[in-house]
Amino acid sequence: MASREQRGSVRTAVVWDALESALAGGPREVVDLGGGTGGFAVRLAGSGHRVRVVDPSPDALASLARRAQEVGVEVSGLQGDVTDLVDVVGADSADVVLCHGVLEVVDPALALDRIGQVLRPGGLLSLVVGQRHAAVITRAMAGHFQQARALLDDRAPVDARTGRRFTAEEIDELLAAHGFGAASVHAVRVFADLVPAALIDQEPGAAAALVDLERAVARRPEYLPLATQLHIVAQRTP
Ligand SMILES: C[S@@+](CC[C@H](N)C(=O)[O-])C[C@H]1O[C@@H](n2cnc3c(N)ncnc32)[C@H](O)[C@@H]1O
Repeated sequence: MASREQRGSVRTAVVWDALESALAGGPREVVDLGGGTGGFAVRLAGSGHRVRVVDPSPDALASLARRAQEVGVEVSGLQGDVTDLVDVVGADSADVVLCHGVLEVVDPALALDRIGQVLRPGGLLSLVVGQRHAAVITRAMAGHFQQARALLDDRAPVDARTGRRFTAEEIDELLAAHGFGAASVHAVRVFADLVPAALIDQEPGAAAALVDLERAVARRPEYLPLATQLHIVAQRTP
């Protein structure tokens, strides 16, 4: 496997485990909100799911179309965003909504409200968000002490590029307030971003051993504050 792919799979293995288990049992109607260039959408379409990607970026949608064509799968790329999601895909039209790496840059309450409207009752939300405690430590370690201090208590975005970060408790509150229950939470990238890329690329077996370690801590609550991201699978209350 090429090094870039290897690093990508280290970063996403834990998310794929939970996602594939949530999607087991037959083809599903999937909406990937902010699905970008289709890293998740194309693979899900390859597993037989019907996937629509909604993203405001025409460039991302063009890359998605190329990627889907290369792999030989069909994915609908729809230009839209959180605000017009319901108009673009229709109310009660999805079994599963992916919202990966998006809640950081949009109004989270608005996004969860719109996602709730497009999910069928009992449908699933797969949510990946940046986790705040790890981001504070990363900024401090890079010498960005004022940014780290600002991020410590502040829920507003530190900068437009990286956006907002969340704690597991904040996500719990947000989900409960928008009609989601039965959430499972996974720690994602606890170690992956701390390990030098060269080690993963060059040391035989290192990538596989690191994935194994990430999987081993993903469901341990004490590792949640150390994770770069949280992956939450939550059910829309029927
Ligand atoms: C960090 S990328 C994540 C891409 C993909 N979900 C993934 O996990 O690989 C964020 C994506 O959100 C999209 N985005 C930005 N603002 C948005 C909005 N208001 N509504 C929906 N998507 C948005 C961007 O175009 C981009 O594709």
